Amino acid sequence: MGFGCVFVRGNRGVETSMKFTEWMLRRVYGLGSHVFLGSSRNADWIYEKVQRTRHLPLLAGNIANYYLRRPRVSGFLTLMLEPVFGCNLHCAYCWNSFEGRFRSMRPHLMPWDLFVKVVEGLPESIEAVTVVGVGEPLAHPQICDMIDFIAAKGLRSVLYTNGTLLEGRCLDRLAQTSLDVLCVSVEPDEETSRTYRNVDLSVIRRNVEAFVAAKQPHTQVKLAVVAHAGNVHLLDRVEEYWTGLVDAVKVGRMMIIDANSHPAVCMEPWRGNFFVHTNGEVSPCCVDFFGDLVVGNVHKETLASIVRGTSIPDLLKRMLRGDTPGRCRTCSEYNAPGIPVKAPKRPIRTKDRR
Ligand SMILES: C[S@@+](CC[C@H](N)C(=O)[O-])C[C@H]1O[C@@H](n2cnc3c(N)ncnc32)[C@H](O)[C@@H]1O
Ligand code: SF4
Repeated sequence: MGFGCVFVRGNRGVETSMKFTEWMLRRVYGLGSHVFLGSSRNADWIYEKVQRTRHLPLLAGNIANYYLRRPRVSGFLTLMLEPVFGCNLHCAYCWNSFEGRFRSMRPHLMPWDLFVKVVEGLPESIEAVTVVGVGEPLAHPQICDMIDFIAAKGLRSVLYTNGTLLEGRCLDRLAQTSLDVLCVSVEPDEETSRTYRNVDLSVIRRNVEAFVAAKQPHTQVKLAVVAHAGNVHLLDRVEEYWTGLVDAVKVGRMMIIDANSHPAVCMEPWRGNFFVHTNGEVSPCCVDFFGDLVVGNVHKETLASIVRGTSIPDLLKRMLRGDTPGRCRTCSEYNAPGIPVKAPKRPIRTKDRR
């Protein structure tokens, strides 16, 4: 098996019969991922978010804007919503673990009213809400109501979890929601699970088995694995251990936020992504856990109005000039050939500085 996003097998025991559009989009995304991210294995990750063909020109426009150094985003296509800030685990590579001083920087839980405002104010181009953030989403007491609300608005939902709270009443209720994708974060084997996530992998597996038995037929279950120096040689084990139970495995490179890297123009703010924190802050970067690139706040305006405003073009101009926020200058990712790059970076040109 290669790494990245790999279909293992439909957990209903049959190969998924793909409609032509899905087949075509997956191939287009595979090619795009190969060209721009260094591996075709991100196709499923992109397909999860963008399935309507009318949104393809926006996706293409965003990529073109980045490569042509135009300070604009053609369309916002993805939303990351942080229901919970703070976690019951302290994984070795996670922001939650090593930035203790940020504990009190925003509320632990996203209030329901704010959540509703985010979802109701989305631009039409966003099809799916990814429920994630620096924290464990299943710790939110209204998480299942959130998933139901997202579905009622005609949007798809993808929820990331460490799997530890996927049991009892939480599991029963989540299994009854219209969740589209449950993405469980794991390490490849028992030893790495203990070392890097401090959880017993067999407990996570038992929880996933129970969820698979109880879930709605359309809900997919996937795994998310962070590739780093301590597990990159073990990634094949993920398929061995989980085959037949999950629909896909996503492997992504570990992001490093205190690297000694060179300032560069990072593609992430051009991607058309919104990340909304529990306090309503909006950032265009999926790893801006500390709000260095904030372009607005949903307490004050809707996402649709942030799209129309000048904060995003201003930020992009700033980045093109090399005047990047401090954390961008030290943001990097683990070098892992065969696993897609998360955020391509291009050199800053002298002529952009003017
Ligand atoms: C921050 S967690 C939040 C959701 C949930 N607690 C979980 O573990 O899935 C979201 C994803 O980010 C991954 N992650 C954590 N630290 C990372 C890092 N330094 N680089 C890349 N991904 C990371 C986690 O493994 C998980 O798959
Ligand atoms: S479980 Fe998720 S949020 Fe919590 S420390 Fe681990 S990766 Fe971070």
